[in-house]
Amino acid sequence: MTQHPRITKAVIPAAGLGTRFLPATKATPKEMLPVVDKPAIQYVVEEAVSAGLDDVLMITGRNKRPLEDHFDRNYELESALQKKGDAGRLAKVQESSDLATMHYVRQGDPRGLGHAVLCAAPHVGHEPFAVLLGDDLIDPRDPLLARMVEVQEQRGGSVIALMEVSPEQIHLYGCAAVDPTEDGDVVKVHDLVEKPAATDAPSNYAIIGRYVLDPHIFDILRKTEPGRGGEIQLTDALQQLAADEKVGGPVHGVVFKGRRYDTGDRGDYLRAIVRLACEREDLGPDFRTWLRSYVAEEM
Ligand code: UTP
Repeated sequence: MTQHPRITKAVIPAAGLGTRFLPATKATPKEMLPVVDKPAIQYVVEEAVSAGLDDVLMITGRNKRPLEDHFDRNYELESALQKKGDAGRLAKVQESSDLATMHYVRQGDPRGLGHAVLCAAPHVGHEPFAVLLGDDLIDPRDPLLARMVEVQEQRGGSVIALMEVSPEQIHLYGCAAVDPTEDGDVVKVHDLVEKPAATDAPSNYAIIGRYVLDPHIFDILRKTEPGRGGEIQLTDALQQLAADEKVGGPVHGVVFKGRRYDTGDRGDYLRAIVRLACEREDLGPDFRTWLRSYVAEEM
């Protein structure tokens, strides 16, 4: 029997402006950009479902239609494929609408990740819940969220995902000051800093886009003032949880050593496509042959 309520809800913030990917994201959410032949967001929803969370709330903003349509039925397309007898493609079209129970809420003004998470409060209620960033892709073969849910069920409080990065990269992330625990992949978080300079960073542990949060985070977010970049930062609210165990703490971190891509960054987006395409059974063999000869020509 678990000590704490079972986690069933996943929240996916997907209301950011995606400015690093303009002009592609002028009229399309960046989460809809394809990674091989699936939009990035579908990998994220699949990850939530495979960790046992099939109640998914997406925080959307402007251009939300493509996100909603992707996870809905498309009868016209389905009947055209049915008439053609194309069962393979029909199954692909139906896959995304059968995945999870989807809900949507609009953020209005994109006032930061903390504000996006706060928009989930009425849906989530008083249970712990997961947050998966819609542009952060974790390789399906390196399960992270399921382990985080397990750690939250054992230890309570909140659990964040951490990844070691080089000192030159730490200014791009939230950074955690940690102590080890008896579990090799779990650390206790006692402080957090959003995007520190390398000289001020308390460690090389960067926060990546997966969280399992105690619902007390909502009370804190309601009072969190805009921080770095004028945005309401989730990291600032988490820092308060970590500092005061009586209001929803502790905060633990699961150290992730697997493959992760930030599909909101152009370089990482390209790497994700090449890697996942190379590993696909249907596309991989031809693509790898082409890539080898392309690289040989370029060197
Ligand atoms: P990013 O920090 O990547 O911001 O957000 P962004 O605005 O989407 O992208 P750039 O930097 O302008 O290119 C991290 C995640 O938080 C969501 C984004 O959609 C993304 O999944 N987010 C961010 C919101 O939902 N609302 C916000 O107000 C900010």
